[in-house]
Amino acid sequence: MNSIKNAPIGVFDSGVGGLTVAREIMRNLPMERIVYFGDTARVPYGSKSKDTIIRYSRQIIRFLKTQDVKAIVIACNTASALALEEVKKELDIPIIGVVKPGAKVAAETTRNKRIGVIGTAATAGSHLYRELICSINPEITVIEKACSLLCPLVEEGWLKDEITESVIRRYLEDLMEESIDTLILGCTHYPLLRSTFSKIVGEHVNLVNPAYETAQELKRLLDREHLASEGTVEEEFPYRFYVSDAAERFTDFANSILPYDVRITKQIPIEEY
Ligand code: DGL
Repeated sequence: MNSIKNAPIGVFDSGVGGLTVAREIMRNLPMERIVYFGDTARVPYGSKSKDTIIRYSRQIIRFLKTQDVKAIVIACNTASALALEEVKKELDIPIIGVVKPGAKVAAETTRNKRIGVIGTAATAGSHLYRELICSINPEITVIEKACSLLCPLVEEGWLKDEITESVIRRYLEDLMEESIDTLILGCTHYPLLRSTFSKIVGEHVNLVNPAYETAQELKRLLDREHLASEGTVEEEFPYRFYVSDAAERFTDFANSILPYDVRITKQIPIEEY
């Protein structure tokens, strides 16, 4: 029972956004345990430099390794775009991000070959979505847009709020004139605003949430590496939650969106890792 196959998956984000990815892992890989870390003391990542995001990611990975995780999912587009390639080289366990799975599904499903991507300033500035989509199909036009205010609005819990709706309308104005048929929600916080996005972009635009594809990619990875959990998740707390600040607030947020009763979130001093 103590085989590596039954070890947890480490999942991390700058805050609550990665819970949208953890939620898909819970739904699609119900046998897997999860250790989640939300860097609530240092959110948002989207306005930070590449060096800082790499440093934060390294610290979080060191912490997750103390929890004996068997694989890591970077449930943050910003850290996936800016730090994944760097930290991957240093790691002896498998690690995946959310950008590649999201880019793949969008490239495969667009009909008019015009894709919009919204995310943080760092993600948009990395142009990684464009690069990956065009490497799959060079005929696709990708229009990237930074929506820097949206992550803080989600962290604030303003999910169904008219101010958030006006901010989204303002950000999407130009994008909607580009005749896109696919819009990638390129920040893991954004699926929490999905109904507002749908209302604004209309039915003819397909919203891509990379979280589902990431869970499928994780499944393939665990099978390939012979790391998939063998037993059922029987223990009382198969999912453990850690943050760098404001643990109670995180617990309340997590309980409002997860299909699981989060009893406790622990705060850890992430700068010490
Ligand atoms: N949820 C993250 C992402 O997917 C980060 C948002 C932020 O911290 O700025 O990009």
